[in-house]
Amino acid sequence: MFGGRFTHGMIERNAMLLLVLSLIVVSIGGIVEVVPLFTIETTVEHVKGVRPYTPLELMGRNIYVREGCYLCHSQQIRGLRDEVERYGHYSLAAESMYDHPFQWGSKRIGPDLARVGGKYSNDWHEAHLINPQSLVPESLMPSYSFLATTPVATEAIAEHLRTSRAVGVPYTDEQIANASADLQAQGAPNADTTALLKRYPKANIVIGPNADISELDALVAYLQVLGTMVNFADTSTESLQQ
Ligand code: HEC
Repeated sequence: MFGGRFTHGMIERNAMLLLVLSLIVVSIGGIVEVVPLFTIETTVEHVKGVRPYTPLELMGRNIYVREGCYLCHSQQIRGLRDEVERYGHYSLAAESMYDHPFQWGSKRIGPDLARVGGKYSNDWHEAHLINPQSLVPESLMPSYSFLATTPVATEAIAEHLRTSRAVGVPYTDEQIANASADLQAQGAPNADTTALLKRYPKANIVIGPNADISELDALVAYLQVLGTMVNFADTSTESLQQ
């Protein structure tokens, strides 16, 4: 181009030219990143069983993010044989479609948690979070015993659902209106869970030892739902699509 005189040195010495060419390069990069987002609706396939988190699970998720559990735990099972054999079916995009922000993580100081739901009892999780070394003596995981004595903040729960809706989680008006009642129904002992289960099928019922729902109860409710929404047992991936 330009008879061979259009060289690297020339671009570096001419500020305007460098600026214009940089802008062209950056906009190509930008287009490549942005355009796929316009088709995100069709890129992430809906999969049977994936539903928004219950209010208690959502609070548990907030605690998970606040405590930085993602710094030691990933939530993303890759399609590699060793991972699938250890953790279960590889993660589907749809399984984190209601996560804002997603918790895929990039570090595994502890195991992947994408399918930890149902692997242990609620009691196991409580004991483990209070004192990990009581169950796994060589564990590096810190103690989160304070969660057991901290009541979960319930005042703003409807706002949490509304905020999630603003970023694309399809909470209904009914779910938002009943957020506080649903949180109580999932966490408190002997609560009536009929309405909760209608609004959130297969919600795991956590019954804490105290009438006051603790942050620990919320976190356990969240851990117990991880990876359990999609039933991989008797269906191929294709037939899961809605
Ligand atoms: C410093 C790193 C670290 C942090 C931070 C951490 N963990 Fe862990 N976690 C581990 C390690 C290591 C293990 C494996 C040993 C064990 O089971 O304790 C583990 C195990 C677990 C397990 C059992 C997983 C399985 O499949 O056996 C769960 C559940 C868990 N962690 C939840 C959490 C939650 C929730 C938080 C945040 C409140 C958290 N961890 C924070 C390191 C960490």
